[in-house]
Formats: sequence, C-alpha cells, structure tokens
Amino acid sequence: MDRLLEIAERIRRCARCRLHETRRLAVPGEGRAEKGVMIVGEAPGEKEDEEGRPFVGPAGKLLTAILARHGVDRGRDVFITNVVKCRPPGNREPLEDEIAACTPYLVEQIAAVRPRLIIALGVHSARTLMGLAGRKIAKIADVRGKCFEVRIGAVDTTLCVTYHPAAALYNPKLRGALEEDLARFIGGGGGLLKYM
Ligand code: URA
Repeated sequence: MDRLLEIAERIRRCARCRLHETRRLAVPGEGRAEKGVMIVGEAPGEKEDEEGRPFVGPAGKLLTAILARHGVDRGRDVFITNVVKCRPPGNREPLEDEIAACTPYLVEQIAAVRPRLIIALGVHSARTLMGLAGRKIAKIADVRGKCFEVRIGAVDTTLCVTYHPAAALYNPKLRGALEEDLARFIGGGGGLLKYM
C-alpha cells in the first residue's frame, strides 16, 4: 500500500492522546507527494473534523484561493497536513503533550513525501518543524517570511515559515504578508514551483 495511505490509516485509528475522545474524524492530510512540496498547518478546526480533510473551513478557503492565484492546485501540487491530526475541542490551541504525541506521524509523512520544500503555517507548525530540525524559535515574527535549510530525520529540505491563514482572516496586514510569503516561497507566476 502507498506509504502515505498506510500512515493515514493508522492516524484514523489513533488513540495516543485525549483528542481522539472528542474528535469526529481524524485529519491525516491530503494531496500529492510527487512535486515534493508540503504545507503544514496547526490542527483541524470544526469543518475539517466534520469532513476528515485539512483546510476546508474558512482559513482553508483563504489558503486554497491564495495558492490558486499563484498557480498552485492544492489537490495536485502539494501535500497538506497539520502538526496535530485531531481537532482540539472548541478550536483551542494544541497542548504540548498533544503535539508531542502526534509529531511522529508528521515525521513519517515527511519521510514518505521527501519534500524539497516545507511551508510551515503559524507558530505551532514553525516551532514543531524547527524543533525537529534541532532549532528553537521564540516567536513567529523572528522566522516569518524566512527559509531555512534543515534536516528532518533523513530528509534534507528547505523549511519556509509564514503566518497561519486563520490569523490572516482577521488581520488584513497579515493577509498581505501571507500572500507575499507564499508567492515568494512557491516562485509565483505560471504555477511553476521554484523547488519542483
Ligand atoms: N487550521 C489548521 O491549522 N489546519 C486546518 O486543517 C484547518 C485550519
């Protein structure tokens, strides 16, 4: 079986942390690995929990629209997932131990996709992915808009950080910055990702 599908099957049955008690559906991630690009968010929200798919609520619609404006089809060109695969109740932030329980799945997904580019959305994603690469970050402002050459497990990759689209939904300044960052990370124009 396809490695990503096999990981997804285990995520759907996962009971490693308390979030499995309150989730409707786990959200393993979706998209394609072929182009070597991963987008990693924080955790599923209400709509994602209902559908079992990442970034299908309001923040997801914003992300999908920005990607499309820059020639990226989310179903075809990228693999999208989250640090935490089950919805935290009431959309609270994921707790340290929930992130720790779930991170091994993300590491496995990175090993399966072998991405040349990983885009971290928001502070939890940035902190977790930088942590996996042995680096600490204090705040998103220190790393937002930047890219880092990192090794995660046995995968050498470029990790780029931007704001979370949920934050950008409510703050037009962040929305501009998110779009600018994504356009730069993916290389803009014609949908040809810089790293493809
Ligand atoms: N926010 C996230 O971080 N991930 C989703 O899948 C949806 C909203």
